[in-house]
Amino acid sequence: MPRDNLLVGLDIGTSKVAACVGVINENEIQIVGLSAVAHSGLRKGVITDLEETVSAVSQVLEDVERMVGSPITHCYVSVAGPSIESFPAKGVVAVSKPNGEIDHSDVERVIDAARTATLPQNRELLHLFPERYFVDGQNQERDPVGMNGIRLEVEALLISATAAASRNLTKTIYQAGLELDGVVFGPLASAKLLTNKKQRESGVALVDIGAGSTDLVIYEEGQLIHAASLPVGSMHITNDIAIGLRTNLDVAEAIKLRYGSVLKEKIRESETINLSSFDPGESDKVTRKQVAEIVDARAAEIFHLLKEELQKVGKDGLLPAGVIFTGGGSDLEGLTELARSTLRLPATIGFPVVTVSGMIDKIDSPIYATSVGLVLWASEETGGKDAPWRLDLGKFGGVVDRFRGIFKNFTN
Ligand SMILES: Nc1ncnc2c1ncn2[C@@H]1O[C@H](COP(=O)(O)OP(=O)(O)OP(=O)(O)O)[C@@H](O)[C@H]1O
Ligand SMILES: [Mg+2]
Repeated sequence: MPRDNLLVGLDIGTSKVAACVGVINENEIQIVGLSAVAHSGLRKGVITDLEETVSAVSQVLEDVERMVGSPITHCYVSVAGPSIESFPAKGVVAVSKPNGEIDHSDVERVIDAARTATLPQNRELLHLFPERYFVDGQNQERDPVGMNGIRLEVEALLISATAAASRNLTKTIYQAGLELDGVVFGPLASAKLLTNKKQRESGVALVDIGAGSTDLVIYEEGQLIHAASLPVGSMHITNDIAIGLRTNLDVAEAIKLRYGSVLKEKIRESETINLSSFDPGESDKVTRKQVAEIVDARAAEIFHLLKEELQKVGKDGLLPAGVIFTGGGSDLEGLTELARSTLRLPATIGFPVVTVSGMIDKIDSPIYATSVGLVLWASEETGGKDAPWRLDLGKFGGVVDRFRGIFKNFTN
């Protein structure tokens, strides 16, 4: 529970650290600070250079503190990448009251039993989502509190991180002088911003293509049914371009940002790129088609892995609200078209519901979805699920109504 009225989200990604600060003002969330700083303290989502990461966190904090006008002392932080794993968990307890009536303490005990029975020693629990309860073997649709029985069971989905990743994350936060309000698997936070209740009821996947990894969550009937991290991200595309075109990483990144496309069939052979326009030390010419072929090969790999995740939960081609993409890597020409054809699902780029003009690029950018989502997550934990908050972008203005729309969807 925050000690002041600031809701702070810190997203420590592979390529950048982003921070978002919100305040609750008369039932309204106002975003009062938002910033990002590029860094290289992580490899594939795992903190490998503590000093560099702490320095990036401190820098981004300074930025938002300046915007907010007061010190930041605590935060919710996101985690993603290969240290994350999700698995099903089961717990069983005997109902404690002699008359067999199940109370909250029985539910707490059965959840605890599921956690301790499932979580390996070297992993830390991030989230445990109960999926269904059984009372004396009978499936209960809802909360079992108040029912009568002898035996209470739970089936849950558990998300964990390696103890090492968790320790490094905690260390980073403390060394940056912050207290930790909570740790959240990144796409769960982004889903707060980019999916509404209707989509989560009918079935939707939120896929975050970051620099180091592609992280996803799948919902159905309003519940989380799957969470995973795939070890391929947009940085791999940059590396492939560097190798394929025999150029340096900076040029490869610039080419990806400028010409990155998976629509290789639509690109004419004659379209050439002069590498000297990116780096005077380079003299080669390459074709756009070559670039698209390299990008397409990695994108195809990502979709292949995504399809496998959908298959694991029997949702291949079967999510009515489709796939919503976010993360910097989702900003590739043709990505949703490729997703539609390979995954056989509707596919869109995640965007808060838009109704007004005058948008600010920074807030629209998919690289901020996790940090803004963390502020929404924080608001729920602070004010409860039914809190009638609306989101107001304050001095980032011009987009207030659109965020209100989203947040209304999200809480309703
Ligand atoms: N317009 C664009 N086209 C293609 N890729 C882009 C574009 N803009 C950003 N990217 C890529 O997106 C990645 C950064 O995205 P993001 O900020 O979501 O990652 P991250 O959060 O740092 O990483 P991760 O979540 O994997 O730890 C970089 O690899 C960058 O090259
Ligand atoms: Mg990220």
